[in-house]
Amino acid sequence: FENELTLLTYQQNGNEDEFHEAYEEAIESVKAELGEYHGLRIDGNRVDTDDRFQVTSPGDLDLEIGEFASGGESEVDAAVSAAEAAFPEWERRDVDARTEVFRTAADRMRDRKFELAATLSLENGKNRTEAMADVDEAIDFLRFYSRELERSDGYRFDTGQPTPRQHTTNLLRPYGVFAVVAPFNFPLAILAGMTTGAMVTGNTVVAKPASATPLIAHTFVDVLADAGIPDGVCNLVTGGGSEVGRPLTEHEDVAGVAFTGSREVGLGIERTFREQGKRGPVIAELGGKNPVIVSDEADLDGAVEGVAKGAFSFSGQKCSATSRVYVYEDVFDEFTDRLVDSTEQLGIGRGEKLETVVNPVIDDSALERYRRITEQARTDGTVRTGGSVIDDDDLPEGRYVEPTVVTDIPHEHDLAREEHFLPFVTVHPVSGLREGIEKSNDSDYGLCAGIFSEDDEEVERWFDEVEPGMCYANRTQSATTGALVQAQPFGGWKFSGTTGKFAGGYWYLQQFMREQSRTRVE
Ligand code: NAD
Ligand code: ALA
Repeated sequence: FENELTLLTYQQNGNEDEFHEAYEEAIESVKAELGEYHGLRIDGNRVDTDDRFQVTSPGDLDLEIGEFASGGESEVDAAVSAAEAAFPEWERRDVDARTEVFRTAADRMRDRKFELAATLSLENGKNRTEAMADVDEAIDFLRFYSRELERSDGYRFDTGQPTPRQHTTNLLRPYGVFAVVAPFNFPLAILAGMTTGAMVTGNTVVAKPASATPLIAHTFVDVLADAGIPDGVCNLVTGGGSEVGRPLTEHEDVAGVAFTGSREVGLGIERTFREQGKRGPVIAELGGKNPVIVSDEADLDGAVEGVAKGAFSFSGQKCSATSRVYVYEDVFDEFTDRLVDSTEQLGIGRGEKLETVVNPVIDDSALERYRRITEQARTDGTVRTGGSVIDDDDLPEGRYVEPTVVTDIPHEHDLAREEHFLPFVTVHPVSGLREGIEKSNDSDYGLCAGIFSEDDEEVERWFDEVEPGMCYANRTQSATTGALVQAQPFGGWKFSGTTGKFAGGYWYLQQFMREQSRTRVE
């Protein structure tokens, strides 16, 4: 399996300029198509609603992304019924007939990758590198899950003959209708990963994207339709969490849920699902509060670069973002000063600008949260850099905030314990590895963690004792973010995930299926 690595491939071929030209052209052509109305997609048909909502670009509030149908209980009902009706035929399809749809869709996405990346940048503010990585990851999910299903023969095998004349086939079978509820921050990759996981294994889907990112979800569903997905197998209902997400995940005919988003919402969905007496899976990928240790044996240049990128790329709006840093006392001052300098060099601006690292935050509630936590940081600690909402005449009207480095906050403080999902990092001194690991592990979350140390023994001990799903040592390209499908299966321990199986990994698909043994007497 080879990952799609678009920008790297252009760089290796010495034609990075062409990457930028193609992206910039795509921005212009996507912009020309914005502002349209998009209905729901149920049973292959467009369904209009009286209620609608507007989406504007976070980097330019005057740029209208589009108007979208706002679903409710009756549309959820219709979509679940369509998915139920499509299930028996879709389940019975041969493995190859199912994977062909996703392989074809992956090819179409490859052909349209600059358009998809441009749509992402405009809709959720991602810069071009991150937007293309999101598209690449989506393509990888479609191809990897197709390959896994084929490689395992659709999870079906003969067990042999335990007693004379009895012949048993053991297999995994889909459950039925899956509710798929996705977040705004990887609005293509995560939506594509969860829906493909559910559908390639024979389930049918009703998908709800985040309210901030419905356009890219429409584009994805269009790609699937072009690739030949039968009507009713993938339905799309846009709208709010309470209006669509809740009735969908609570629908009596929904057999399983795949959710990625905040811990509060995800655990609430799981609780209600169980209270309804349902036995199917709730596959929930949740938040993170990702720690990084910087040892006195670290290459400080690499540590500064890795932490700045881990904390501030996509404005810290990643479950995997670096959000607390534990630095050995004897290098604490030097590391912190250098991190502050490096943070102040980061380009802040619209996602589509070449120099942007720190893009606008997604919505007004993120802006409000930023104001609140930076105020608290000023009161209870020291804001070393950042801390303000940006009001700059050179920028369009958007939600721009400064990347923020904070010290003198106790490790127990909410600022160092809660996930804020913003460009905000706290830096703490520790006496050494033991304290660094203890503090890293002292969290309900267990998604990603990093260490910077040139001492192999220290790194080995850290791998053995730290408690997240994803452990990264000496990763200068980003201390904690940026997992690759198959190469780095991605998921969380503790309250960062509910099943312990990782997206883009070998056991992911099995969660969407239940086992059956079929014995026939011959
Ligand atoms: P969110 O929880 O606010 O929303 C996620 C989705 O749930 C959205 O589509 C939303 O409309 C819907 N929703 C909201 N309330 C609902 C309800 N009561 N019932 C059903 N659905 C409801 O999260 P977000 O702000 O979109 O994304 C950020 C969060 O996602 C962060 O906590 C981040 O860590 C997490 N995340 C985790 C991973 C991972 O792989 N672990 C990846 C990306 C994001
Ligand atoms: N897979 C995403 C990352 O690694 C969440 O940052």
